[in-house]
Amino acid sequence: TEIEKGTYPHFMLKEIDEQPLVMRKIIQAYQDGNGNLKIEDEITKAMLDADRLYIVACGTSYHAGLVGKQLIEKMAGIPVEVHLASEFGYNMPLLSAKPLFIFISQSGETADSRAVLIKVKEMGYKALTITNVPGSTLSREADFTLLLHAGPEIAVASTKAYTAQIAVLAILAFVTGTSKGASVNINLVKELGIIANAMETLCDAKEEFEQIAAEYLPAAINCFFIGRSIDHSVGLEGALKLKEISYIQAEGFAGGELKHGTIALIEKQTPVIALATQAGVNGSIRANVKEVATRGASTCIISMKGLETEGDRFVLPAVHELLTPLISVIPLQLIAYYAALHRGCDVDKPRNLAKSVTVE
Ligand code: G6P
Repeated sequence: TEIEKGTYPHFMLKEIDEQPLVMRKIIQAYQDGNGNLKIEDEITKAMLDADRLYIVACGTSYHAGLVGKQLIEKMAGIPVEVHLASEFGYNMPLLSAKPLFIFISQSGETADSRAVLIKVKEMGYKALTITNVPGSTLSREADFTLLLHAGPEIAVASTKAYTAQIAVLAILAFVTGTSKGASVNINLVKELGIIANAMETLCDAKEEFEQIAAEYLPAAINCFFIGRSIDHSVGLEGALKLKEISYIQAEGFAGGELKHGTIALIEKQTPVIALATQAGVNGSIRANVKEVATRGASTCIISMKGLETEGDRFVLPAVHELLTPLISVIPLQLIAYYAALHRGCDVDKPRNLAKSVTVE
């Protein structure tokens, strides 16, 4: 059956709005009869057998992998490396004694990722694919699959698949950590429920993000996204969204790296969007915002309830600090959407890009 936009002007906006529903579907799909999170035993066993995990992916899925690394290391205590598939293929890092490979791919058809999968299978290693498409190539050719349950994603710029990937990675991390007997100090079912509600609040606040786009981006030739720790990973995704659909040159930077080069790019009115959702770095990211503001940047702080300061442009609802990417990305998706819309860009089908890239 053909997917319809319904009352939405674009698939991207529809898919952004579907995120709360997708969260609830994922919680349901990964629960057992007693309301506990579960994944297939053979997957947990493969995770526990591994001494190191290698996440391999491209584009937005790679950005979800960066968040996944933090979730897995913190909840399951297994070291994780995250690699771009197109680099990994010809420049393979030294592997640990017992690696497990995790491929993240919305489509399950990306050629760069598949090339790595074929290689590591030939080397005799096990692979898990996290994908939105049951029966896709990467799912069939891997040993195990975890599904995203996000429903078809039509817009070229990935939105609901990114948050679904992070949620499934969180569940994988949680179930692995729990079966390992690690003290996983989080009630994930409850926290993901809070996330779904927070997502709804953000989807209802579209005008706020339309306003930010209108204020900061109409005349922008570039835009920077800064953050520290997990906010840095989300900033990379925010920058990618903006590049993909509005064609504004955008980059994500770690707050602490500004002084080592990037700050040279700051001019009068350069837009700098900062995420401040992490208590441990709240002071230092705000210091970075001051540094760029002093040099003329137009700064926009998106913080979280409990960490906010006067002057913050938007305050996200409070959620568990490991799960903030699931909600902090939504303003960035919407800012990119409205920036592209105002510039008259083809939001759903940006120039030069394809939804699924099946050539290396
Ligand atoms: C293409 C899409 C991106 C996507 C990337 C990886 O470049 O335009 O949005 O993130 O492929 O796709 P995958 O299906 O493997 O997640």
